[in-house]
Amino acid sequence: MSGIRIVGSHIRNQWFSYFAGISMVAAGSLFATQIPRLIGSVTDSLRDGTLGTSEMAGYVGLIILIGVVRVGTGWGGRVIVHHKGRELTYNLRKQLFEKWGTLSPSYYHRHSVGDMISHALSDVEVVRELVSQGINQAVSGLAMLLGAAYLMAVHVDWRLTLAGLGPLLLIPLLVKWLGPQIRVQSQRSQEALGAMAQTTEEVIGGIRAVKAFGTEHVVISRFENRVDTIVEEKMRFVRLSALFAALVPLMVNLGFIFVLGYGGFLLTMKTISLGDFVAFTLYVTLLRQPLEQLGNVLNIIQRSIASLNRIDELLRVVSEVLDRKGPLLDRPLQGTLEVKGLTFHYAGSKNDVLTDISLSVKPGQTLGIIGGMGSGKSTLADLLLRLYDPPERTVFIDGEDILNYPLARLRDGIAYVPQDGFLFSTTVLENIGFSDEYPDREKAEHCAKITAVHENIQCFPEKYDTEIGERGVRLSGGQKQRIAIARMIYKNAPFQIMDDSLSAVDTRTERRILLNLRELSTSLPDSEGGKAKATIIISHRLSAVQHADEIVVFDDGRIVERGNHAELMSLSGIYAELWFMQAGLTEESDAQRQRDTSEPNLDAEMDVLEAGRMEEVL
Ligand SMILES: Nc1ncnc2c1ncn2[C@@H]1O[C@H](COP(=O)(O)OP(=O)(O)O)[C@@H](O)[C@H]1O
Ligand SMILES: [Mg+2]
Repeated sequence: MSGIRIVGSHIRNQWFSYFAGISMVAAGSLFATQIPRLIGSVTDSLRDGTLGTSEMAGYVGLIILIGVVRVGTGWGGRVIVHHKGRELTYNLRKQLFEKWGTLSPSYYHRHSVGDMISHALSDVEVVRELVSQGINQAVSGLAMLLGAAYLMAVHVDWRLTLAGLGPLLLIPLLVKWLGPQIRVQSQRSQEALGAMAQTTEEVIGGIRAVKAFGTEHVVISRFENRVDTIVEEKMRFVRLSALFAALVPLMVNLGFIFVLGYGGFLLTMKTISLGDFVAFTLYVTLLRQPLEQLGNVLNIIQRSIASLNRIDELLRVVSEVLDRKGPLLDRPLQGTLEVKGLTFHYAGSKNDVLTDISLSVKPGQTLGIIGGMGSGKSTLADLLLRLYDPPERTVFIDGEDILNYPLARLRDGIAYVPQDGFLFSTTVLENIGFSDEYPDREKAEHCAKITAVHENIQCFPEKYDTEIGERGVRLSGGQKQRIAIARMIYKNAPFQIMDDSLSAVDTRTERRILLNLRELSTSLPDSEGGKAKATIIISHRLSAVQHADEIVVFDDGRIVERGNHAELMSLSGIYAELWFMQAGLTEESDAQRQRDTSEPNLDAEMDVLEAGRMEEVL
């Protein structure tokens, strides 16, 4: 039931608007309950022959006035309450979104994104229905029911009132019987919807694989199964709700029959007047709609409790990586990293992914990390960024355990190119200038030149304002990677980490980028907004780390060799072996890339220039 608190606190915060809205809706309904009484009086006057033209005009005027006031207040109140409902939806979606932004990758490892999207869309929508439709209907229904019951009992006859409204007392029993079933069923159909969203997301995300394997039919039939489940679950839900929605009017009709019988008897006994009888039948008819609405409200409540609880559960999730309690070291990072005897395993798994890792890097230096797939390279990067927390006293920045920095400070100091080089569906400019709310065009162009992607961008239809992704240009793997590296450079942070970020770039362009990067990270004076940076280049290709100051070789989570290129070659170990293997492959695959993609062809002049710089660097 704790989900209810979400709505409770929303109403408390906005109590004045709700108070105004609810009063207006209630007033509108109370006005409406006056009409049958007036018509009853008209009937009596007609029967007694005392109704003159002016009196008749008076009645008509009054009824019209009540109608207008009723519509006005009812409309105003409903608008207010609906508006507040929208506000709640907006706030909830914002809260969910903010929460998802804080959660660590391990959460996303365990939860499906499709499921989460379904929460953000349908569960929140159900809550909005509760707040706007639910409150409006409950207030207008209750006001009308109580108003009519009062008028009937006080002004006409309480026994007749009991006879007419008696059957309605069965409605709570109906709710008790059908409500829980409806709730369970609602949850099941929401879950089915979540499962479909997940399948859709997977298929669309993996459409290339689906096509390449020619397995469209498998995917389609899987998808059809999901849809079938939704239809089944939804139909069960509809059958239950429809039964509920049909039984409520039945009770009302029973009341109507009692009024006709008992009221007719009272009329012939002259206990009530003809006008009373007319007013009574009108009341029972008038109450039909609000009572159906009340039934509907009970339905909405049952349904939204499940949704509210799910939302509440989501909002209560706490990220596994949090700022430490107690005094934090809130100072900018300088660029010295030291890892000491780091051993790490993921939660829920016994095997160590990293074992006894020790390494270090200083500003102006480049550390190369080389190793096969699954050797723990990306895990190390994740730990430096505290996407997962390393054990205490294993990772130090500027001499201080990284666990003692505020997360925001730590991440602010690290520019990172993730392994998949993820780009957002927005303009090239906003992708490169991602670390700024309002990216600087000149700076972005400068960064793109450093990563040799400027020429490509100039060929895009709208250059730096071209949208990337679904609605815009499709980029080659190499272009994506170079834009992702430009984004890293743009951030201008004391640490730079590239996780296999040059794998789709041909070795010649790779060399050019690395040289530019090296120049930038070692020699740019502070006055130009640059600083010596500590660079970590993770790669499975040796050409990317060859010129690093130190190279560590990862194998199955351990460092098995370390040194610079020359030292590692003289060891004649894994590194040297890899070197000879990859040297043969490079030329072949570069030639392949030149044929496949529209990578820029570097002119000879550039090569000469580079050769010159390379001498300097080496
Ligand atoms: N979130 C995770 N939970 C559990 N195991 C993981 C997780 N991420 C990676 N691993 C495992 O850790 C090992 C190292 O992975 P990774 O660091 O990605 O290697 P690399 O980047 O060198 O290819 C692999 O065996 C992988 O399956
Ligand atoms: Mg990796």
